[in-house]
Amino acid sequence: MSRCGFVRELTSWSAGAADPDEFPYDQVVDAFHRVGKHFVDKELLARLDETRARVTGHDEPARLLRDFLDVALDKWDGRYDYRSYLALRLLRLPDGTDGPPPDAEARRARDRLVVRLVADAVSFELSAAARVTGLLPEQRPGRAVVAKRCRLGVRAALPALTRLGLDPKIDDTTPATTATTLSAVVAGLDTTGDPSLRLSMLPVHVTHDEYLFIRVLQAYECVFAGVADELRGVVAALGAGPPAPAVERLGYARDLLGTAGSLFSLLATMQPAAFQTFRQYTEGASAIQSRSYKLVESLCRTPAPERLDSVAYRSVPEVRARVRDGQPTVDEAYRRAVHEGRLDDPTRRLVETGMGRFAEALAQWRRTHYGVAVRMLGRRPGTGYTEGTPYLAAVRDLPVFDAVEPYPSRPTGGRPA
Ligand code: HEM
Repeated sequence: MSRCGFVRELTSWSAGAADPDEFPYDQVVDAFHRVGKHFVDKELLARLDETRARVTGHDEPARLLRDFLDVALDKWDGRYDYRSYLALRLLRLPDGTDGPPPDAEARRARDRLVVRLVADAVSFELSAAARVTGLLPEQRPGRAVVAKRCRLGVRAALPALTRLGLDPKIDDTTPATTATTLSAVVAGLDTTGDPSLRLSMLPVHVTHDEYLFIRVLQAYECVFAGVADELRGVVAALGAGPPAPAVERLGYARDLLGTAGSLFSLLATMQPAAFQTFRQYTEGASAIQSRSYKLVESLCRTPAPERLDSVAYRSVPEVRARVRDGQPTVDEAYRRAVHEGRLDDPTRRLVETGMGRFAEALAQWRRTHYGVAVRMLGRRPGTGYTEGTPYLAAVRDLPVFDAVEPYPSRPTGGRPA
């Protein structure tokens, strides 16, 4: 659709009942995809801004439309950051506010989302390779890379699929059959009530690999949000009642984080040159602004005052405020339970081992992240206003808990992904 056509659609929507359900989402998304969010015509953005002012309702369609327009207009508003880049509100991920510890259905919902995000990334690879989509046409990867992405994408989705009780026999004869099996499994999921993925892909540029980058980051956000929720559950369980749920949740959180490591292998197929192209337009959006990661870190142990006052926590003011307000931690809850004699010896050992294993999974995540960052970024600064990988090297060895060492302990040092 031409620019005039797009403006006509918007004008006619605004002139009518301005029903959020009738909003021309597809046309708007297409206009963004044609050039990338960073390059969308200012006149179109001004029109969208006027449109946003007309959305006044409070029901779900109005909320969705407002959230979408906030994501689409983040650069225009001067609010562009990591959360708006990844459209996290549209994925309906928790925003760090307290809720009850996750039950089985909350865990399943998160697993479904991870699987769908990864499957969508893989489908895009296949559609582009088959030339059935013109989306993000620049710096397309070669066939070998596409094949690798299909294989690694399926591997990254498997742990969540297994937890969902779906352990498909993947036909890995060709990349296409591998990816097709994954799509078939996803198509069979009951996703009633789950967020739609369609609106959560607004890349800043038209480089092919940005699609993978966004979906992997979104999948990791989903994992961190899950881990943070489990850790809040651990704190609650250590504070009152029998400690068995604390052990179970620590193990679950460890598995979530540990098995998500294959997302990094998938991301490591990104072409560094393609990354350099689109990251010119992502300045100001960095995972240093990830609330869920900092929640995970600060729920384990209260960060030292220097870290709390550094860019690490100044980039997540809501989490910083929670810490300053005395957010309880697993570390303290464990010490208190031991001090008050509420854990007998066997249980104490179980909790300690659970914490140690979780600490090792987080340490491993940091080492792998560092390896991927070095490979993609080299000596360039980060988009979160740090000096880049030297920052990551410095924070890689921060203790996860004070009370317990990582288990089994490993020598430190960057490991390539
Ligand atoms: C191309 C791949 C990646 C590169 C080059 C990269 C680079 C960086 C850099 C340089 C920083 C320091 C802050 C800054 O100035 O931006 C950082 C922080 C961070 N990144 Fe990445 N990153 C990559 C992938 C990921 C992925 C997939 C995740 C998963 C969500 C992630 C999560 C984080 C987190 C949570 C931080 C904050 C760490 C802290 O403050 O201790 N990164 N990254």
